[in-house]
Amino acid sequence: MPIDVELARQDTAGCAGVTHLNNAGASLPPRQVVDAVVDHLRLEERSGGYEAAAAAAGRIEHTYDALAELIGAGRHEIALHENATRAWDMAFYGLRWQPGDRILTSRSEYASNAIAYLQTADRYGVQVELVPDDEHGQVSVPALRELVDERVKLIGITHVPTQGGLVNPAAEIGAVARAAGAVYLLDACQSIGQLPVDVREIGCDLLTAPGRKYLRGPRGTGFLYCSERLLDTLEPPFLDLSSASWTGPDSYRVRDDARRFESWESSLAGRIGLGVAVDYALGLGLPAIEARVTALAAGLRERLLALPGVTLHDRGTRQCGIVSFTVAGHDSAALVPELRAQRINVSAALLGSARWDLAERGLESLLRASVHYYNTEEELDRLCAALPAPLPG
Ligand SMILES: Cc1ncc(COP(=O)(O)O)c(C=O)c1O
Repeated sequence: MPIDVELARQDTAGCAGVTHLNNAGASLPPRQVVDAVVDHLRLEERSGGYEAAAAAAGRIEHTYDALAELIGAGRHEIALHENATRAWDMAFYGLRWQPGDRILTSRSEYASNAIAYLQTADRYGVQVELVPDDEHGQVSVPALRELVDERVKLIGITHVPTQGGLVNPAAEIGAVARAAGAVYLLDACQSIGQLPVDVREIGCDLLTAPGRKYLRGPRGTGFLYCSERLLDTLEPPFLDLSSASWTGPDSYRVRDDARRFESWESSLAGRIGLGVAVDYALGLGLPAIEARVTALAAGLRERLLALPGVTLHDRGTRQCGIVSFTVAGHDSAALVPELRAQRINVSAALLGSARWDLAERGLESLLRASVHYYNTEEELDRLCAALPAPLPG
């Protein structure tokens, strides 16, 4: 079923006030999500936080089921976190390293992941190696195949980079990881909610994503998928009284499921809102969302190409809803507040968020317009009309 855009916009209060093309930053949430969050906060206000949690236990638990359905996992393979980076950290820092172990990653890896790899290299004498891009700018699967050996402990890939519209060939990478016996950690921050993502099809062992981006969930939410296969081999870097139980004066027992990576205290309103956001996406259907988002993004690329002085920077054979570009003579970061003043929301990807990729391409920064299914063709025209004329040099 194609998306009923009018209905989606009616559900989205923000559509009335802004042209929101920063969905890869944080999407506008639908009223169902906002209501669920506010309702729970009101319940806490009226009855007390712990008592509200008890009353809402079913809704809190539902979030695990919803996320499991979204990515084709079991509910026991889902852990909830306050953002995607902490979810990623809980998995990554749970691996045990020996000097000489190798990490293979992509040029387009996100800054926080890259920093964690580098810290781990410093601590344990692990080697961090970049898999070359292919001629389309995405991870080269043949090059990855050449690089793997028994010392490769981890293949860490970003599915859709923060700085552009390409979709890395996640399932092909999964096949290589499985054959090599390496752990495969997929950063799906920018793909969850805009593309169908199935962990069994992709063959990843670990996957992380936030709620606020394409899923349209509340800020301060994220999750980790840890495959059953890996649960016992990964040691949670932190434990508390919910991820483990204190069984005797000198003993403790770690939980059996992925919640061994969680911490006890969290925003339960946020967790409930995340579940509602996932239900909303599942109700529309991920294939329908992808079809609408990629068509809008392709339309935006076409419009931008026709503008003088605009250069598109998206690569990859499969592209998604993120459109990256520069306007000649203009600093991308400076254009963001200028457009915001006209109630057009975009963002900039800066060198420091994706250095391995942007430095290689000689780019200091990019403008990023990321569309969602509730955007319209008129909004794309508005953005194009608001862009400044190119300046020399
Ligand atoms: C590819 C990628 N990975 C990780 C993150 C970090 O997510 P969070 O801010 O929820 O920790 C981002 C955020 O922009 C991202 O684009």
